Amino acid sequence: MYEDAKIYLPASEMPRQWYNLAADLPTPMLPPLGPDGKPVTFEQMSAIFPGNILEQEMSSKQWIDIPEEVRNHLMRWRPTPLRRAYWLEKALGTPAKIYYKDESASPAGSHKGNTAIAQAYYNKVAGTKTITTETGAGQWGSALSSACTLMGIDCKVFMVKVSFEQKPFRKMLMETWGGHCVASPSMETEVGRKVLAEDPNCPGSLGIAISEAVEVAKADKTGKTKYALGSVLNHVMLHQTVIGLEAQKQLAMIGIKKPDVVMSCAGGGSNFAGMAFPFAHDKINGADIEIVPVEPASCPSLTRGVFCYDYGDLSGFTPLLPMHTLGHDYIPSSIHAGGLRYHGMSPIVSQGVVEGLFNPMSVLQTECFEAGVLWARTEGWVIAPESSHTVAAVIREAKKAKEEGKEKTILFTLSGHGYLDLIGYDRYLKGEIKDYILPQAEIDATEARLAAKGFPKAEARSTGKWHQGIHNV
Ligand SMILES: Cc1ncc(COP(=O)(O)O)c(C=O)c1O
Repeated sequence: MYEDAKIYLPASEMPRQWYNLAADLPTPMLPPLGPDGKPVTFEQMSAIFPGNILEQEMSSKQWIDIPEEVRNHLMRWRPTPLRRAYWLEKALGTPAKIYYKDESASPAGSHKGNTAIAQAYYNKVAGTKTITTETGAGQWGSALSSACTLMGIDCKVFMVKVSFEQKPFRKMLMETWGGHCVASPSMETEVGRKVLAEDPNCPGSLGIAISEAVEVAKADKTGKTKYALGSVLNHVMLHQTVIGLEAQKQLAMIGIKKPDVVMSCAGGGSNFAGMAFPFAHDKINGADIEIVPVEPASCPSLTRGVFCYDYGDLSGFTPLLPMHTLGHDYIPSSIHAGGLRYHGMSPIVSQGVVEGLFNPMSVLQTECFEAGVLWARTEGWVIAPESSHTVAAVIREAKKAKEEGKEKTILFTLSGHGYLDLIGYDRYLKGEIKDYILPQAEIDATEARLAAKGFPKAEARSTGKWHQGIHNV
């Protein structure tokens, strides 16, 4: 019975190309806008990103080759195992079969390594000497610090202050790999100094940390310092598709033609995209698959945010992006899933939700910790608080399958381990974790604020082929 508890793909079967959903979206995406209100140009973006990455960002090619050097580095931990959560299934008494890709297998402990290697490689080819970035949970900053060292590039990470304090070991990891990590807001940038002058106790946000990292990259007039983003943009979604492409082959190895439900948590969207986009390709071509991005009820951009043009960062250094947003100045509550505390969403994931290809779900923090603890006590591993959002959603789905008496196949990404997140678990076990649901009045105020700034509403265009289901707490 336990023979398919882990399914290994031979290394030779690791994907040789990434899948670009932008090429197949039934309704094409709206363009990002520059400061003049016109679609942003390659030249405008090249102040902070190297040209080879921008080419990918704007590409409409369906399949993009993975460079040999990137593939060789990914071989350190890829293909990742597909595992079956037999012991959770048993504890829930569900007829559902639950499979997951174990992305905690990377050196830094999460899916972030998949794009960190690729982005560091393209920057090396373009002659970049230093990369600046933000990090929420610390997973992206760790993965990029490690990848930059492999490519001979310096790495400077602005880590959201609340996570910096909750996870001191992440900074040590980054510095062991040769990166340099500071808490954001910091005194090192104009943006940081301004935020701290207004609120010395500001817990930080990904929006603030992105502004700080972009400010530092822009300040280097030699052009040798570039900025890298760990999520949100098309090229990051692209690099993560190795997850779903491998999963498709692994399911085929055990005779499963398709999953019924695909679930993964979404902060900026790349963890979700990595698993979901290859299956979205199948769905567009007729497969019946429910695809669910999962997010916190305290930071519910996809389930309750406004679909509007907005900045990706606090200070408006990024182009205006068409996405579900809670407002670029929104500071999410200090939940332990730092990687899910982002005000916006990847525009391509947002367009998938508008199209009805993806049906988002929100979950509560206590429900997630409860799920994380049940996972640890059944499956064995302690998982990241972000991943416990996915597991909470999977448990809901498995219980539904039990009620309906259906033998569904549920597939998800276990995005990271939680061995550096134990303070969160400790607080949960002591009964100190509280739930927070964003009040509607705050979302209404965001909508009014964005309109007052003259940001255009993103036009919600869809073919109407798929059901636009949203599951809220
Ligand atoms: C473990 C883990 N899972 C999921 C996420 C969310 O990832 P994304 O922003 O790619 O949606 C993060 C982000 O930091 C993370 O660290």
